[in-house]
Amino acid sequence: MSESEFDSEFEHESLVVEHDPATGSTAVVAVHSTTLGPAIGGLRIQPYPSLSAAVTDALRLSKAMTLKTAAAGLPLGGGKAVMLPPPTSSDRRARMHALGRMVERLEGGFVVGEDVGTTPQDMDWIAERTNCVTGRSPAQGGLGDPSPATAETVFGAVRSAYELVSGSPDLTGCTVGVLGVGKVGAALAALVAEAGAQVVVADTDADRAHDVAAATGARVVPVDGFATRPLDVFAPCAGGQVLSRTTVDGLRCRAVVGAANNQLTDDSVAELLHSRGILYVPDFIANCGGVIFNGADHLGLDPQTIGTDLKAAVERTTELLRTAIADDVPPLTVALDSALERIRTSR
Ligand code: NAI
Repeated sequence: MSESEFDSEFEHESLVVEHDPATGSTAVVAVHSTTLGPAIGGLRIQPYPSLSAAVTDALRLSKAMTLKTAAAGLPLGGGKAVMLPPPTSSDRRARMHALGRMVERLEGGFVVGEDVGTTPQDMDWIAERTNCVTGRSPAQGGLGDPSPATAETVFGAVRSAYELVSGSPDLTGCTVGVLGVGKVGAALAALVAEAGAQVVVADTDADRAHDVAAATGARVVPVDGFATRPLDVFAPCAGGQVLSRTTVDGLRCRAVVGAANNQLTDDSVAELLHSRGILYVPDFIANCGGVIFNGADHLGLDPQTIGTDLKAAVERTTELLRTAIADDVPPLTVALDSALERIRTSR
C-alpha cells in the first residue's frame, strides 16, 4: 500500500498491528467506528501477499462492518481482525491467545467473531484470554457458527431481488450461480435449490464444489469465466473485489446478490451495474444475518428472537430495493444514505 493509498483508506478510530514472536503470527485489528457501540467484526485468516495487503483488507472490511451494523439497526460499530498465517506451522491455540490478548488491550472497544478461515473452536480459544468475543461453540455457551444466519439473509435478498427483476416470487426457473461454496455459499446453494432454483456452483476447492453439488443437485462449473455465465442471480460468496468496471461489462445476469464482503472495487461500480439494468443488492445489506446472529450472542439477547430479526432484515432489504427502483438509483445509494444518517444522528 502506498503512502497516499494509506491516507485515503485510513479514516478509522484505531489500527493495531502486532507481531507475536512466540508463535510467529502477525495480526491486524482495525476499529473503524464505535459511534453506535463497541466495534464488532470477524477474524479472517488467509494468506496475504504482504502485510500492507492485510492492513488494507482490515481497513476496508472494518469500514464495511460499520455500514453493516448501522443498516441492521444494531447498537454496535465496525471493526475487523486479520491474521497472517505464520511462515511455519505453530500452535493455533497459542495464536488465538495472542489475538485474545490484543483484543483485551482494546478494553471493550472491539468484539471479535468468526470470518473466513476461522471457526467456533478458534473463538473458544480466544475466549480464554478475553470476554470480547462472539460465536463461541455451543459447548462453551456460545451460539456457534453465524454462517447459516448469513445464508438466510442472503437467500431472502435473492428472493426479493429475483421477484423485482422477474415479477415472479417463485424461484422455479431461476438460475442462481454461487461462486464459493464454503460455510455460507454451501448453505445458500442448499436454500435456493430447495426453493426450486437451478443452481450452478464453482469453487477453487474442487472437492468442496462436488460435495455441495452432490448434496443439493447443483451443477459444478469452472471458476474461470463464472461471472460471465448466463445467470438470473450471480451470488459471489468467496472473496471480495469481484465486481470492477471491467468485470461488470461482461456480466450476463439480472441481479447480483451474495455473501462476500466488499464485492465492488469501488462504489462507482454500483452506478455501472445500475446503468446496465443489473440489480445489485449491497453486500453489507444482503449478508447482515451473520452480524445480527453474532450481535445477539454478544448482547446476550434471547436466541429465540434471532429468527424474527433475520426476517425483519429481509423485509428491510425488500423495502430498500423497492425504494431504489422507484427512485431509479442504485440500491447502494439508498443503503449508504440510510446507514450514514443513522450514524450521523447518533453522534
Ligand atoms: P469460507 O472460507 O467458508 O468459504 C469461502 C469459499 O470460497 C471456500 O470454499 C473457498 O475455497 C472458496 N474460494 C476462495 N477463493 C475463491 C475464488 N477465487 N473463486 C472461487 N471460490 C473461491 O468463507 P465463508 O464464511 O463462507 O464466507 C464467504 C464470504 O462471505 C466471505 O467474503 C466472508 O467475508 C463473507 N461473509 C461471511 C459471513 C459468515 O457468517 N461466515 C458473514 C458475512 C460475510
